[in-house]
Parts: sequence; structure tokens; C-alpha cells
Amino acid sequence: MRIFVTDLDHTLVNHKIEGKDEALEKLNLELSKRRNKGETKIVYSTGRSLTLYKQLAAEKELLNPDALITSVGTEIYFDSSYETPDPEWSDILKRGWNRDDVAEIINKNFAEEIVTGKLKFQPKSEQGLFKVSCFLKEETAERLLPKLNDLLENKNIKFKLIYSGSKDLDVLPENADKGSAVKYLQEKWNISADEKTVVCGDSGNDISLFSLGGERVRGIIVGNALPELREWYNNNKSDYIYYAKSSCAEGILEGLTHHLNLKLT
Ligand code: GLC
Ligand code: MG
Repeated sequence: MRIFVTDLDHTLVNHKIEGKDEALEKLNLELSKRRNKGETKIVYSTGRSLTLYKQLAAEKELLNPDALITSVGTEIYFDSSYETPDPEWSDILKRGWNRDDVAEIINKNFAEEIVTGKLKFQPKSEQGLFKVSCFLKEETAERLLPKLNDLLENKNIKFKLIYSGSKDLDVLPENADKGSAVKYLQEKWNISADEKTVVCGDSGNDISLFSLGGERVRGIIVGNALPELREWYNNNKSDYIYYAKSSCAEGILEGLTHHLNLKLT
């Protein structure tokens, strides 16, 4: 049994394609076949909240995943009613975390950046019990991130900062990100050998997927990956991470052929 994990926006889903996405259909078919034969579990891992995930699922041809990781790894759903995030995972994330303190620190210390629009809280739907998210202008990020880091450390909060796409800042509990969520699934499903896990992504919040556990996780970076992931790849090249030439689902198919020697017809 394997675990196939993919990010959604600009990795599985190509927003440039408006109509039928042939590569996505082909990949869906291949994955469904393998899942039906008991060969793989399918995991979607997105930065989106459940609300925004549902919007995407209404617009694009997605499968029903065996597990859905939303909000940059801070929520995991196992059944398609998506009623409550997995409580065991929430318990792990709780330790040393206080979202109100995080929000207050940002409000108090970066009032000027907020007034001038350099830093802005994301919409309410994208805030979570374990996620404080902002839009942060790239030219401000370099100066602001180390300062925010120090302020949170001084408050003894156990946190992690993830900056993606030169615009999204996520402040998460120390134990949370997409990679740790997948690690949790590996243990839960008893499929802990990293070489049995394939992960796909395009941006900064996917880096934790490529670096989860040892170096043996099979990675696929889609050809349209953003500079932050390209840079990470250049510093962390390994035999197990494949940088695809094609974009999105087509890039994933290309990577699967490379990793699994799939005969795709
Ligand atoms: C998605 C989420 C947003 C997050 C971003 C990067 O766009 O909606 O809240 O900041 O991913 O992780
Ligand atoms: Mg993405």
C-alpha cells in the first residue's frame, strides 16, 4: 500500500485551464484504479480552509480523498461528511499554542504595516483555531518576519512561520504543517516506509512535504513551481525528488512515471 499526497492549487489543479483538464482526468482515473485495487490511499493536502476546499471541489473534478488535510496541515478529515477535524490531531497541535496571543502580537506590533496595507489579516474563513493567516507584501517580509519570530519566541509560544507565494503568511503551531500531518497519517495507517509515500507540490507551504521524515519520500515538484520551492530544491537535490517539466496534473503524471515506472496509456 502506498500513500499518494498532493497539494491542490497549481499542483493538481491548473487554474489556467477553464474547460476539461485532460491530464487531471487521466490522473484521477489512474489513482482511482489503484485505490480500488487496494494499492494506494489518496490524500489531498491544501492551504485552503474546508470552506474554500468545498468551493474548489464544486468547480473542479476532484476525487473523494481518503484523508483531506486542510488549512496548511492544521486540520485532517477522514470522512467525506467533513463534520469535525480529527480530534487526536487537534490534541497534538494544542501544545504550547494560543491563537489569540498570536493575533494580538501581530495587531499590537505591526499596527503601522496594517494601516498602510503591507500586512493584512486574511478573510475570516482562512483563520482557524490553529492558524493565523495574513497577506504580507514581499518587500516588508524580510524585515517583519524575524521581528515577528522574536516576539512570538519571547511570549513562549510554540509556533512555526510559513511564507508562500511571496504573499501568504501562515503562523501555525510548532507541530503543524503539511509534512507533519502526512507523518501522522503514515503512522495511523501503518504505512510508515517513506519510499511508499509520494508527495506533490508547487509552493512554500509544500516544502514540509518534501522534507518529511527521511530523504526517501518520493517527491514530485511540478514544472510551474514557485521560486521559493525552486530555490529549496536547488539546495536540497536528491535522487528521490523529481522536478517535472510539465505543469500541474501533467507534471504529476510525468513524475509518477519516473518514480513508479507506471505504464500510462
Ligand atoms: C491558501 C489558504 C491561505 C494560506 C495559503 C498559503 O491560499 O487559503 O490561508 O495562507 O494557502 O498557505
Ligand atoms: Mg499550491
